[in-house]
Amino acid sequence: MIAILFTSLYMIRSNRRLFAQLAALSEQRSELAQKLIATQESTLRHISRELHDEFGQILTAVGAMLTRAGNHAPEGSALRAELREVCEITQSTLDKVRSLSQALHPVMLEETGLESTLDWYLPVVERQAGVHVFYEKSGESFPVDGNAAIHVYRVVQEALNNLTRHSGAKESWVRLRFLPQALEVEVEDHGRGFDAQAARQGIGLVAMRERAELLGGTVEFLRPEQAADGKSENGRGTLVRLRVPRKKLEA
Ligand SMILES: Nc1ncnc2c1ncn2[C@@H]1O[C@H](COP(=O)(O)OP(=O)(O)OP(=O)(O)O)[C@@H](O)[C@H]1O
Ligand SMILES: [Mg+2]
Repeated sequence: MIAILFTSLYMIRSNRRLFAQLAALSEQRSELAQKLIATQESTLRHISRELHDEFGQILTAVGAMLTRAGNHAPEGSALRAELREVCEITQSTLDKVRSLSQALHPVMLEETGLESTLDWYLPVVERQAGVHVFYEKSGESFPVDGNAAIHVYRVVQEALNNLTRHSGAKESWVRLRFLPQALEVEVEDHGRGFDAQAARQGIGLVAMRERAELLGGTVEFLRPEQAADGKSENGRGTLVRLRVPRKKLEA
């Protein structure tokens, strides 16, 4: 009896120690992931600003100089035509630099806010990925701090990336809900669907969870029929739902 008692006590203690170690490791992993996310965001923001400000200004100046030089060249001359061509190339390079800068880190998030950034971003996805987006907004909108907004934006971005890469669906539903106490964003498709517990995890799902945690919120990967207003036929597809408490979003 005494031997059994001692063995049990020993096992309980060593289990407790193991659990404590596991909890500490998990916390360290989460801390590391969140630091990585923060570093990545600040690097992207820096590159995006440099591209927009430095290269944007240089290309604008070059464009203006070329236009002026073109105006000095004789009307109808080959030089004038060539200068106009170079000017057009400069303009299209400028457009590319600007859109790359926006793609890396939308300056809009700080300037005009999350809602208008999504208003701009969703049509871009439609155009680039060829997926139709039904965009629904509800509730009375409230301002979201730029540092928090970037995480919400990245979750939507990754959910839509996954949707275009993995779901096979050609339609998607994005819902932005301003609730009294929270912000809720959903990205839904009626495509292939997957099991978030069993799926081979890339960086995408992990980063979405970490970002939700950074915001004190949650992210869920559901089957559309599990959602309150499930509209998916046969319950196929994926519903990504991010929910963040409002107090974490205010500046
Ligand atoms: N909307 C979706 N429809 C179907 N399968 C999905 C969807 N979203 C995710 N998946 C599945 O979950 C897996 C993990 O997604 P995750 O974003 O973590 O990785 P990934 O997209 O493969 O790579 P990356 O690290 O570039 O994001 C995917 O490989 C895919 O099989
Ligand atoms: Mg992914």
